[in-house]
Amino acid sequence: MDKSLQEILQEAAEKFAAAADSHALYEAKMAFLGKMGRLGALYKKLKELPESERPAFGAQINELRRAIEERVAVIEGMLHARELSARLEGERVDVTMPGRRRRQGTLHPVTRVKNMLIDVFAGMGFEVFEGPEIETDYYNFTALNTPADHPARDMQDTFYLADGLLLRTQTSAGQIRMMEQKKPPIKMLSPGRVFRSDDDATHSPMFHQMEGLVVDKDITLCDLQGMLDEFARVIFGKESKTRLRPSYFPFTEPSVEVDVSCHACGGKGCSLCKGTGWIEVLGAGMVNRRVLENCGIDPDVYSGFAFGMGIERIAMLKYGINNIKLLTENDVRFLEQFKD
Ligand code: DAH
Repeated sequence: MDKSLQEILQEAAEKFAAAADSHALYEAKMAFLGKMGRLGALYKKLKELPESERPAFGAQINELRRAIEERVAVIEGMLHARELSARLEGERVDVTMPGRRRRQGTLHPVTRVKNMLIDVFAGMGFEVFEGPEIETDYYNFTALNTPADHPARDMQDTFYLADGLLLRTQTSAGQIRMMEQKKPPIKMLSPGRVFRSDDDATHSPMFHQMEGLVVDKDITLCDLQGMLDEFARVIFGKESKTRLRPSYFPFTEPSVEVDVSCHACGGKGCSLCKGTGWIEVLGAGMVNRRVLENCGIDPDVYSGFAFGMGIERIAMLKYGINNIKLLTENDVRFLEQFKD
């Protein structure tokens, strides 16, 4: 072979040997054997030669082509073998490997708190009663001593439906349904969704409440506070205390607002409790005589207490959640923080 052709072969052999994989080898191969490659240029040159010189040069080019093809084939074989064994290695199944774990879900913080509350009160003998979310005006307001013209109706921005129906604004409606069905002694816990036209960082148009009702002979405000103390200890920690402040609800008399000592600062005063050492947690009171009468229970024989709390509010206080929207956005990164 001509010296210049020898050099091309040498160059090709070096390029092929340097190819890292079969794709690179293909590129290198095309640079020599392709139409636009080095051999292509030689064939072009062949055409320009005088006829007498063509056969000899043509034979040389063909020899070069075969030599190049041979080299390519050798390297190609090597690379294929290497790539195949790498693929087999990569796809090898190790039957002794442990299975892949499925990501486990967690209970929603509202559900967790609801379950905790049920645990506390079920342990004290309360039974769970769930009333309907679509209520009549009577159960949600009138029977709870809140007739149509009562100013306390303005405390709750109600979604009214047709025909005297509404979305219940409070689980207190369950008290009436319970007392109509069952005579004392009653110890009822009523969790559920409630609805109000209200929407900001701490209010949502739909939220959850937990209602409690106890009716029996000789029930007093002390019984209420004793049970709430236990509730506060379980939910907010052993050192928690409660205090009652006078308030007003149409369905209780007297009515109280229940504060729990601040679990963040232990009552010393911090930003969570706005420096007071106390956090308002729920409403409660002694069941109003009129409410008992509305349900056919003699208020001279029986007395009772009731309480109602927002479950989101308890969850937000307990876990330090500052925006109620986080509880309905279903962002897994947020929700999975509430593990056992
Ligand atoms: N229903 C009241 C509310 O939604 C909370 C409440 C207050 C419930 C006092 C009660 C109670 O049972 O006695 O604001």
